[in-house]
Amino acid sequence: MAKPFYLTTPLYYVNARPHIGHAYTTVVADCLARAHRQRGEMVFLLTGTDEHGEKIEQAAKSKGISAKEFVDQTSDTFRSLWKGLEISYDHFIRTSDPAHQLLVQKVLERLKPQLELGSYKFWYCVPCETSFGLREIDAAKPLCPQCGRPVSQIEEEDYFLPLEKHRAWLKGYIQQNPDFIRPESRRNEVLAMLTDELPALCVTRPKERVPWGIPVPFSPKHTTYVWFDALINYISALDWPDDGKFHRYWEEAGAIHLVGKDIIRHHCLYWPVILHALEIKPPKMIFAHGWWLVKGEKMSKSKGNIVDPQAVVEAYGLDAFRYFLMRDVPFGEDGVFSEEALVKRINSDLANDLGNLVYRTLTMLEKHTGGKVPGGKPDARISSQIQAAEQGVWVGLQQIAPAQALKALWELINHANHLVEEKAPWTLAKENRRLELEDFMHQLADVVRALALLLWPFLPTAAESIWKQLGYSGKLSAERLPSALSAHIPAGQQIQKGKPLFPRLQ
Ligand code: ME8
Ligand code: MG
Repeated sequence: MAKPFYLTTPLYYVNARPHIGHAYTTVVADCLARAHRQRGEMVFLLTGTDEHGEKIEQAAKSKGISAKEFVDQTSDTFRSLWKGLEISYDHFIRTSDPAHQLLVQKVLERLKPQLELGSYKFWYCVPCETSFGLREIDAAKPLCPQCGRPVSQIEEEDYFLPLEKHRAWLKGYIQQNPDFIRPESRRNEVLAMLTDELPALCVTRPKERVPWGIPVPFSPKHTTYVWFDALINYISALDWPDDGKFHRYWEEAGAIHLVGKDIIRHHCLYWPVILHALEIKPPKMIFAHGWWLVKGEKMSKSKGNIVDPQAVVEAYGLDAFRYFLMRDVPFGEDGVFSEEALVKRINSDLANDLGNLVYRTLTMLEKHTGGKVPGGKPDARISSQIQAAEQGVWVGLQQIAPAQALKALWELINHANHLVEEKAPWTLAKENRRLELEDFMHQLADVVRALALLLWPFLPTAAESIWKQLGYSGKLSAERLPSALSAHIPAGQQIQKGKPLFPRLQ
């Protein structure tokens, strides 16, 4: 039985169109999913949309359409963006899916004995859909501690899940499992949140105030709190509590949740506690990456400072966009998105290094060996460089460090470009040193072949194109690593040189 691997992205709010922040988490998730599939694992990549709550309802109202109509439209824009970015998700869940709604109700029924009905006063941030205790906010200047926007004070009767009972357990669990919350800085932040008593988590809303939500089965006056509803998706997509998918992906593989650092409180406090209350084990890892910033501020739908991923892809190509997101900033840190930085990456890494290596290799095969891959001896040094790149890429991806993985891959590209200068195949041809020339061209074709295999999770389009240009007719996605890397390109294979993959930009 293949090893299972379970990876999730947040369920994005459908109050507005997606921006590069959403593309970021999803592209990294796609890359990891592809890499694990390529290594023969049984992967389940889950993404989707978060469709209930006040902020969605307000957005629908401002458009003058029904909430249902509105969420259908915006959820579609996410799906079509993912198609354009070649996101290979296995399931797209919507919190408005009838099956999900039923399951959330089942969870509420199960937790009912632990819930407390109470009248509470709290501060609420609608854009974050997050409540804060009275002590957490300065009443003289009521601003959200997360996003800095105004919060309002609410007093109402709701159901609450006490968190305090679980605090000692959660703290101990985080301390004993250093990889549970990553990176380290986020782990420390969460541990700091656990030093004081935890206020109970409100899991409902009065239906009168927030009608756009899942009805609470045991209280007709209430709907479910949007975050409670959304977090449950990670198990409802696996048909919990049925065995089968839940057992394979949740219990055996363990979930890896990729999220941005904006939502660590929900994923690292609320979610593990909800699971603990349900007697379900915690996810394997929550990785909270940094933010794409614009002029020092988080790029965000509600701030309106967004960059449209579709526009970037139309202007620069999908592979360049994916490469930039994964290479320019270490996963976990904040980054600044600018066209200048993107163009710089395209020109140096993609045009100069990768594109040039592929193009010159195919050009020399056309010119010196009649457009066919010559027979030749493999070279031990080149084979070990390919192996080192494979290991570097895999170690980087297992650590959820795509930039590090790409660096390891670029070492192989740089070695090969140097080797071309050193060997100067054009001189070997001029001096008619056929055997040396053929050996080297064979080795170089092997390196380009390895590049296509290793690049595929990151830059699927470019990788497929390299594969075809090398003369392969089969599907690159069907190749399995690491075994495919110890094979060599067949002698006599007819290449199909195309245009340069990444033309230099001005
Ligand atoms: O929080 N930089 O949805 P959301 C990097 N529905 N990543 C960013 C980003 C930025 N500037 N802006 C957004 C929600 N993201 C909830 C989640 S999960 C059960 C419910 C990415 O639409 C990042 O992954 O506000 C962040 O955590 C997520 O989008 C928030 O998306
Ligand atoms: Mg948000």
